Amino acid sequence: MLRARVIGTGAYVPENILTNHDLEKMVDTSDEWITERTGIKERRIAGEKQAASDLAYEASKAALKSAGLKAKDIELIIVASVSGDMPLPATACILQDKLDTKKSAAFDVNAACSGFIYGLSVANAYIQSGTYRRILMVGTEVLTKFTDWEDRTTCVLFGDGAGAVVLEATEEDRGIVSTKIHSDGGMWDLLHTPGGGSRNPASKETVKKRLHFIKMKGNETFKVAVRALESLVVETLKENRLKTSDIALLVPHQANLRIIQATAKRLGLPMEKVMINLDRYGNTSAASIPIALDEAVKTGKIRNDDYILLEAFGGGLTWASALIKW
Ligand code: COA
Repeated sequence: MLRARVIGTGAYVPENILTNHDLEKMVDTSDEWITERTGIKERRIAGEKQAASDLAYEASKAALKSAGLKAKDIELIIVASVSGDMPLPATACILQDKLDTKKSAAFDVNAACSGFIYGLSVANAYIQSGTYRRILMVGTEVLTKFTDWEDRTTCVLFGDGAGAVVLEATEEDRGIVSTKIHSDGGMWDLLHTPGGGSRNPASKETVKKRLHFIKMKGNETFKVAVRALESLVVETLKENRLKTSDIALLVPHQANLRIIQATAKRLGLPMEKVMINLDRYGNTSAASIPIALDEAVKTGKIRNDDYILLEAFGGGLTWASALIKW
């Protein structure tokens, strides 16, 4: 049986840091409020000329290097993002051009903050079926360009960054063990960007009404997220006949420390087994899990044969998990 094994990870965040104290000068908020409600202390902001593919390129180079491969060795590039360079073409194609290879297919996946795991589930299916042997899976976001800097309920949450993994087919008993993806389109309006698509094409009116910025019903999203993530993790463990104590590290989507703590508590998972870096990067949507995973690898938090659980929740609504035997 073929499995998709992670053979390299990489991440990139822009240099520019925006702290909670900086935000205090921009909107009516405080470091105390943001820290208490979200756990976030600072986030990275992409430069004026930096787009999602630029961040993706840096993360991809790092992931390829750690895998010991060149771009021409990759057969498929998948990019998960809701803040791609342009509506057309796919950011994955722009990334392919930057990586200077024509040897791969390239496409985007949009499942908001769950996008990276949705992408992993697609990559896993291609590898298990024997269609492709080497896939580059990237999560990249420049959300701060779609953030309303006058809306204190959202602007304190988001940050920019990219993370990538290289997956390779293996016949060993390791790699992605299972993926679970879920959606509930009935709640699409909890988290959305109303302008710029075919519903509300760009016009003076859409700009005036600030429809090109991310809108979120934070409180409702929070409640649904905690419930969905708990049942998702229980479902994933049960299906794979594992106990919470079998998980060496949980790498959750880095949206809100309180959501992560609530999920860990409900599952009886100690926080030492949970990867956290949202204090430094905020919510980087589809990029958050590969950035956190790369940091976990580089800081020695993951060893061979460990069971690693990735889980995410986001706009759509969507939620997803991936269980990996490292
Ligand atoms: N600074 C200070 N006060 C703020 C604020 C800010 N940045 N943002 C909101 N407030 C105020 C609100 O106006 C409200 O004031 P009121 O009681 O006078 O009306 C009060 O704080 C409470 O607002 P509420 O929205 O109920 O806060 P909350 O505890 O739910 O925290 C979030 C807000 C956004 C941090 C929280 O709901 C959250 O993280 N939700 C999930 C978001 C998420 O993760 N989304 C992405 C999923 S991928």
